[in-house]
Amino acid sequence: MALEEMAAFFEARLDGYDEHMLTNIESAEEFYPYTAAQLPVKEGAKLLDLGCGTGLELEYYFKLNPAAEVVGIDLSAGMLTALKEKFPDRVLTLIQGSYFTISLGDRYDAVVSVESLHHFTREEKLPLYKRVRDALDDGGYFVLTDYMVTDETIERELRSEYERLKTEAKLPDGAFYHFDTPLTVEHECAILRDAGFAQVEVLKHWGNTYCMMARKQNLPLNEEISI
Ligand SMILES: C[S@@+](CC[C@H](N)C(=O)[O-])C[C@H]1O[C@@H](n2cnc3c(N)ncnc32)[C@H](O)[C@@H]1O
Repeated sequence: MALEEMAAFFEARLDGYDEHMLTNIESAEEFYPYTAAQLPVKEGAKLLDLGCGTGLELEYYFKLNPAAEVVGIDLSAGMLTALKEKFPDRVLTLIQGSYFTISLGDRYDAVVSVESLHHFTREEKLPLYKRVRDALDDGGYFVLTDYMVTDETIERELRSEYERLKTEAKLPDGAFYHFDTPLTVEHECAILRDAGFAQVEVLKHWGNTYCMMARKQNLPLNEEISI
């Protein structure tokens, strides 16, 4: 198998992308609405979407909160154009580039990322997650829905296969190539904690797709206790 550059990979599959995700990814029809339902419902809520693609999660979110202000970051200009065309009437700011280098902005009520971060290492994610935490309002939180594994051996094998393919093709460092290298659920939680999030919890999973919530600060005690 030949590695393809990340944005080019998605642009080549843009036609039929939404249908592919919703019909071929296990439980997609459940985890997109579930993820959207975790996001803030107050009018004018500020949301950042990392790797927003064509906005499948946003489609469900805008149904719950049509007045939300959303910033979306994605490497692929084609995916962003498709997203913009879907929601001409929404408050949507789209930024083309890598979330590892682009300024994220700040004072968000929530940050979300769906099916995008499973290509990256702990070393790449840790500084990003610290920046995500800094970009959140004090009461804000990060919802991460992504492909993860439970076995460390699989994590290691996929990463070394990726490195092998990259070396074989003599691909330079510093660009992103499409190959799934999910981390374990435990490692993903640990990176979020190491980035300074006060509370990290797995909300739900559907096979290998996990939905996690990481809160910038602990919830006040009276919000934790349900009577
Ligand atoms: C599988 S798609 C998911 C899109 C959307 N969140 C969804 O669930 O339908 C992954 C997206 O992440 C984007 N992506 C991958 N690496 C990225 C990076 N470093 N910075 C910004 N976007 C990235 C890709 O361009 C692609 O649009």
